[in-house]
Amino acid sequence: MTFSALHKGKHMLRARVALNPAAVVAPVNRRTFGSFVEHMGRCVYTGIYEPGHPSADEDGFRTDVLALARELGVTMVRYPGGNFVSGYRWEDGIGPVEKRPRRRDLAWRSIETNEVGIDEFAKWAQKADVEIMYAVNLGTRGVQEALDVHEYVNHAEGTELSERRRANGAEKPYGIKLWCLGNELDGPWQTGHKTAEEYGLLAASTARALKSAEPDLELVACGSSSSVMPTFGSWESTVLEHAYDVVEYVSCHAYYEEHDGDLGSFLASAVDMDHFVNSIVATADAVGARLKSKKKINLSFDEWNVWYLSRFQNAPLPAEWGVAPRVIEDQYNVADAVVVGNLLISLLRHSDRVTAACQAQLVNVIAPIMTEPGGPAWRQTIFHPFARTAALAKGDVLETRVDSPAYETARYGEAPLVDAVATHDPATGDVTLFVVNRSQSESVTLTVDLTAFGTGLSVAESVTLTDDDVRASNTKDEPDRVTLRPTADIPGGAVTADDGGVTLTLPSVSWTALRLTR
Ligand code: AHR
Repeated sequence: MTFSALHKGKHMLRARVALNPAAVVAPVNRRTFGSFVEHMGRCVYTGIYEPGHPSADEDGFRTDVLALARELGVTMVRYPGGNFVSGYRWEDGIGPVEKRPRRRDLAWRSIETNEVGIDEFAKWAQKADVEIMYAVNLGTRGVQEALDVHEYVNHAEGTELSERRRANGAEKPYGIKLWCLGNELDGPWQTGHKTAEEYGLLAASTARALKSAEPDLELVACGSSSSVMPTFGSWESTVLEHAYDVVEYVSCHAYYEEHDGDLGSFLASAVDMDHFVNSIVATADAVGARLKSKKKINLSFDEWNVWYLSRFQNAPLPAEWGVAPRVIEDQYNVADAVVVGNLLISLLRHSDRVTAACQAQLVNVIAPIMTEPGGPAWRQTIFHPFARTAALAKGDVLETRVDSPAYETARYGEAPLVDAVATHDPATGDVTLFVVNRSQSESVTLTVDLTAFGTGLSVAESVTLTDDDVRASNTKDEPDRVTLRPTADIPGGAVTADDGGVTLTLPSVSWTALRLTR
């Protein structure tokens, strides 16, 4: 199959990748496509929940947002925070809504009305068809409160808290398997911030207690809030020295932004994510070796995204205590979407050890989905690479070594212009390649060698996200300004297939998904 080839730029840059169905990294984990709903800004209120909105269902959930969450392909949602959880009393959010207290949320300097609590969120999660990842408060609270919320949500019946859940309308337990032991307790900004020693002891005793109640829970100990934390690495080491035997995961959080107009470094953000993952895998394995343990600790990358954090840090939180204020409603552009697509490439590449991940967050707050109160919901640019990756990454992740030209970045040194990962679904025979071109000026022609798959593969789909204006965004008034287009229809893009493989011409600053089928 041959499409028109239009090249922009002066030089023809070339890259090559050879794929082999026998070179399997790991199965694609469905939990890689997690998201995050925090009681923060307008993520919950006027995000997922807005009674009175024209699209609201009988429970007050916006069905337009539910439809977009399904289209996004989200499989799991972390809840209820985030920094919020470190001061949260979960029991404020159960029982008759009119009796629920209004509280100060110190993390985001706002008022929490508690109209939505775990029972409402569990209903939303069922409608969205997502697994819940539940975070307990280990900032201002401890073992007992973690046990209490566990008893409320997971104990079948016949105890004080399980009967309260049943009285509140949920006869069956929610069966939440994946639990975060607090949030970012390495960060001085966190309510109840702790040293690694203090947190490691608390995480271990909370984990032991939770597992006495339900041995097959999967527990996530807090790792570092970012790779620039002064305790990066040593925090994980100390925490795991205490909690290794009783947790399954250590968390990673990373947010990326373009600093001082340095687009080249920003486009290479996945280099930092790779480094983050490799460092924490090595740290966890070193602790395992010291403890003479056969067990491996996996990584839960349960907050990742593009976030213009420096703009937020330069703008103080609102002086007034308001309900659901507009907080960090970043508007994303084409470059941001290419970076998000590349971060998913990095997460997939590490599927042997990163077995859970959550893009932060789902709606309005640094989110792929935006809403207006009483108005429409729309897809930000970053929605598109996430949705297509979640839909197409099936089966096994393949080792994907790209032979690519490189460029110099100020933050990460030399970085390849082309980065990619491929999946192969043995059930259908489909092979999918997710690939970015980080060049700001040149198309790159990528040869995809598929000889190891034999003959009979043909191109089923090749879509690209790019734009002449890398700052182009989607807005309420122009919600589809940036979207996916067939690669071959884009100036600078082309797809040519022959028996040995496919040649893709990737426009500058672009993300592409290529699916081949039999
Ligand atoms: O996602 C926004 C915030 O980023 C979360 O509340 C916190 O955990 C992180 O610092």
